[in-house]
Amino acid sequence: MFRNIFRSHVASMAAGASAAAFVGSSYFSRHNIDNDNARCEKKADDASTVVGLLQGLTESMKRVEVTLGTANLSSDSSKSQRHGIDVVLGAQWGDEGKGKLVDMLSQEYDVCARVAGGSNAGHTIVVDGVKYKFHLLPSGILNPTAVGLIGNGVVVHLPSFLKELDGLAENGIQHKGRVFISDRAHLVFDFHQDVDGTLEYRLGRHKIGTTKKGIGPAYASKISRNGLRVGDLREWDYFEQRFRALAEHHIRSYQGLEIDIEGQLEYYKSIAPRVLSMTCDTIELTNKKYKEGKKILVEGANATMLDIDFGTYPFVTSSNPSVGSVLTGLGVSPKKLRGIYGTVKSYCTRVGEGPFPTELDTDEGVGHHLANVGAEFGTTTGRPRRCGWLDLPQLKYSATINGFTSLNLTKIDVLTGLDTISLGVAYKHKGQYLATMPASLAELKDVEVEYEIMPGWKEDISQCREFDDLPENCKNYIHRIEEIVGVPIRWIGVGPNRLDVIDRGEEFETE
Ligand code: IMP
Ligand code: MG
Repeated sequence: MFRNIFRSHVASMAAGASAAAFVGSSYFSRHNIDNDNARCEKKADDASTVVGLLQGLTESMKRVEVTLGTANLSSDSSKSQRHGIDVVLGAQWGDEGKGKLVDMLSQEYDVCARVAGGSNAGHTIVVDGVKYKFHLLPSGILNPTAVGLIGNGVVVHLPSFLKELDGLAENGIQHKGRVFISDRAHLVFDFHQDVDGTLEYRLGRHKIGTTKKGIGPAYASKISRNGLRVGDLREWDYFEQRFRALAEHHIRSYQGLEIDIEGQLEYYKSIAPRVLSMTCDTIELTNKKYKEGKKILVEGANATMLDIDFGTYPFVTSSNPSVGSVLTGLGVSPKKLRGIYGTVKSYCTRVGEGPFPTELDTDEGVGHHLANVGAEFGTTTGRPRRCGWLDLPQLKYSATINGFTSLNLTKIDVLTGLDTISLGVAYKHKGQYLATMPASLAELKDVEVEYEIMPGWKEDISQCREFDDLPENCKNYIHRIEEIVGVPIRWIGVGPNRLDVIDRGEEFETE
């Protein structure tokens, strides 16, 4: 039934989009395709049915695409062949399990890219018993034929980056010639990390709970326009002069901060040749790969509720982990995006401070169950994660911002064994229903969450590989989420192993 809802939705969207494009004939004439357009109009006049009209429009659009050179010539128009950049994003507060989907998908991609954040991100991937922890590198690099890109929107702590590369090499993952870093990406220095710690210390009990990886201070340097970029290493005198200015600025601003300027300069001079051998204009590279028809996957880091604009400010990270960063952090047009996959844990977790409407006490009961069965400890900091029920008003907000084409629901096996499952379905404040996530933290802290209580299931689901294999109550939980959020759930994580995933296929994606 749900599939039908999405089918009719997709059909009406497609009709609207084609018609809109068709009406915009000034665009066509600028590209000297008037004749094609005219032919199509004639054909459309002849069509006696809506279907005929749509077919005519589709054919016309194909000709337009060929003329403009944007068509995927090797394909028919089926979705599986449609060319575009796919994106995996965190839909909640991070640690939703993006890494597993990325790992699964990346086997089929030619390019895997990071576009925002830095080494605050972390995910662990286990392959053949070997644990790989990723912080800065796209984990798709585990696919031996994929190229890993670090886009301009990422902030890079080069010592961590080189350590991560060395770790891969030690585990036999050959990365030479496969890792590229944007010359426009900004640098995180050790002193940014020190300042991150100092700022947190100064905030005392109002601290943000950052990873202390220097993310906020490095983005602050970028926005203040006194930061340094990876490409600056190409011109040593310039790098040295800007580094001295930036370091001195920080020493002046933070009493007691010590920076070994000469030692740092010596270090950066020594690693410059190695770093520069991987540095390039990733905007040009990405768009060239796209034009060549290569498959590109963006690995989102962090998550929408940690977004500097859309998250629970100031308890957020300092970048835009939502869909916008794919454009600003990679340098591609929105027209090139295809799948936008929102990763959602079957419950909620959060590390660090800030409001969390559906939070449970992890010392007992369901909260304790979620934290322990779900092994909820941070990859980057090892901190225990706060846990709570799935929050659908939050998820709807995230879906609105990102335009998810489908969802990846992870760790549903963690809910196995619970008698009942509560699903947060609405927010109320002072007795009034709220239409969306409030910007005010005070309001968010005070919201009353309305829950639907659903019966749980006891069966082990880790061997389920088809949706229909799942217990009825589990299916009902999934259907209810789809119904309320209005986005189909394509993937369902049923266990911790690499293959413990149900993939319902591309028909569970909207356009
Ligand atoms: P920062 O990104 O280190 O500045 O931390 C800001 C907030 O984002 C803190 O609450 C962190 O715990 C949170 N955060 C940053 N990166 C991640 C992540 O990858 N997963 C979960 N939380 C994160
Ligand atoms: Mg993580």
